[in-house]
Amino acid sequence: MEGNMSLSLKVWRQSNKDTAGGFENYKLDHVSPDMSFLEMFDVLNEQLIEEGKEPVAFDHDCREGICGACSMYINGRPHGPLRGVTTCQLHMRSFNDGDTIVVEPWRAKAFPVIKDLVVDRDSFDRVISAGGFISVNTGNAQDANSLPIPKEAADEAFSAAACIACGACVAACKNASAMLFVSAKISQLALLPQGQAERSIRAEKMVAQMDAEGFGNCTNTGACSAECPKEIGQINIARMNREYLGAKFSSSAV
Ligand code: FES
Repeated sequence: MEGNMSLSLKVWRQSNKDTAGGFENYKLDHVSPDMSFLEMFDVLNEQLIEEGKEPVAFDHDCREGICGACSMYINGRPHGPLRGVTTCQLHMRSFNDGDTIVVEPWRAKAFPVIKDLVVDRDSFDRVISAGGFISVNTGNAQDANSLPIPKEAADEAFSAAACIACGACVAACKNASAMLFVSAKISQLALLPQGQAERSIRAEKMVAQMDAEGFGNCTNTGACSAECPKEIGQINIARMNREYLGAKFSSSAV
């Protein structure tokens, strides 16, 4: 069809975390500029299946930018060339006819490759399990006005809560640091009254788990924030460091 593109794809293929992987080259014709990047992969997989080859394993769920599953490193950037966009919301009109597109999985010690482009991000779940929650007996929903929250705090908490835990921050960071992710999760609760009771212990436990998982430290390059599809700000990392230091001082004082 007129306007459709022909692409060359270099896609990372790897059977599991214990085997060496490598790039495979594929040619794909008739790619509509209106396809999402994942739909383009669906077409590639149909082509591979028709050829009797194994389709490429890749993660996806919502395909609307909210679950964080569609983790791919595209032409050297997490989620591809656009700012503030997940892979599932990236469209082929962002590429040109005849382009070669290189697709790799997230690369970090704490994100071992399960297969092809799918990595194991259980390390993020374990960081959340360490303290990214509020322990309350829920009961009936209380009146929304009974707990006044300053507008600024509500807005900042909401911005931090926009993190979809995709792991692009880790993939973008030369140190494979998870500080943007962890700081967003700490911030969204530290900014709200409901998060105060466990504020100190939360910061201590989540940071300790982050370190135990093998993520690196932040050296303020800002790649995490620049590549985050939800544009989570580095201010959260500064807040996390303050929360952690405060927690350490108060726990060593008792
Ligand atoms: S598939 Fe859910 S964010 Fe992309």
